[in-house]
Amino acid sequence: MNFIDLKRQYEAYREEIDQAVLGVMASTRFILGREVEALERELSSFTGAPFAVGVSSGTDGLLLSLMALGAGKDTVVVTTPFSFFATVEAIMLLGAEPAFCDIERESFNLDPHLLEDRINELEGLGKKVSGVIAVSLYGQCADMDAINRISKKRGLFVIEDACQSLGASYKGRMSGNLSLLSVTSFFPSKPLGCFGDGGMVFSQDEGLFEKIKAMRVHGDTGRYNHRYLGLNARLDAIQAAVLRAKLRHFEKEIALRQEAADRYMDLLSPLERKGMIGLPHIKKGCRSIFAQFTIRILEKDRDQVAMALSELGIPTAIHYPRPLPFLEPLKRYGFRRGEFPVAEEAARQVLSLPMHAFIEEREQEEVARALFKVLDR
Ligand SMILES: Cc1ncc(COP(=O)(O)O)c(C=O)c1O
Repeated sequence: MNFIDLKRQYEAYREEIDQAVLGVMASTRFILGREVEALERELSSFTGAPFAVGVSSGTDGLLLSLMALGAGKDTVVVTTPFSFFATVEAIMLLGAEPAFCDIERESFNLDPHLLEDRINELEGLGKKVSGVIAVSLYGQCADMDAINRISKKRGLFVIEDACQSLGASYKGRMSGNLSLLSVTSFFPSKPLGCFGDGGMVFSQDEGLFEKIKAMRVHGDTGRYNHRYLGLNARLDAIQAAVLRAKLRHFEKEIALRQEAADRYMDLLSPLERKGMIGLPHIKKGCRSIFAQFTIRILEKDRDQVAMALSELGIPTAIHYPRPLPFLEPLKRYGFRRGEFPVAEEAARQVLSLPMHAFIEEREQEEVARALFKVLDR
């Protein structure tokens, strides 16, 4: 069994994808061009975000967004302590200082109830907080309305790190269109993945959109007029062609992921009732894309459970074993154990199970059987 089965997906759409890739090769338009522009239009329409810019990865999308918003030296950006490293890496690469606000226990996302106090605390120390990056982890949107409300009152920008949540919705609106800027990733294992690296920045503001569009090509606004410092951070045409072919099946895949998640919920609920695991909790008004199906191991040691499952042929993953503040590159800030209790507990307990649109019922039953065997003996 594979944790994510990209082969099955490729076999299902092989002809369409091959045709699309061959089309780009025949056109010899490898950089930007028709396919990238078409994908930007299609995903702008899919998310409802007025503007979209194809970029080379989610990480570069975060970097470009922060650059366009002026984050840098002497500014602080607040984010969640429980995410993939790229979220905080982008802040730090620009010389800005990362600050963290603990997460909600049920959603694993930044807790808006703690945000205002954290901003007050930072400003009390004389720091200039410039914005917030909220991550929509595992495919469920962060509480973006609350985060936007608090940030607007304080004049801060908000970026949704939607690298795991394209296809999710929040109060009837799509992830990617819930804040000023939003960034998604097309890393192959993401719900909408390409055949390499890729990403997209969504914007609700035309000026920022134009700026990021220039910044992905060295800040060039045309004919070597380099108006900004930028990057080489374009989405390439072959990746855009693959993504357009897959996008045509995405709604169907969203439904399949939901079905698979419901099936896991049914199969595993006896273990939750016994207090052995915690199942994902999807908040009212949210539809998760289940980029990950992540449970909590409550009684036994998570790492031993993962090992025992592996011995039974069940692959799992840990997203993420260490909260961001305690990673090596952040050492100099001196964050202390116990400062982010909810994230720290999550890092000890979470375990992601095999999950993708093509997972079969019998595979999920096998996962459940193995979990019962390991936990309930
Ligand atoms: C939450 C989060 N942020 C940022 C990234 C970075 O995206 P990429 O791998 O496309 O650079 C990822 C994905 O890997 C992610 O999961």
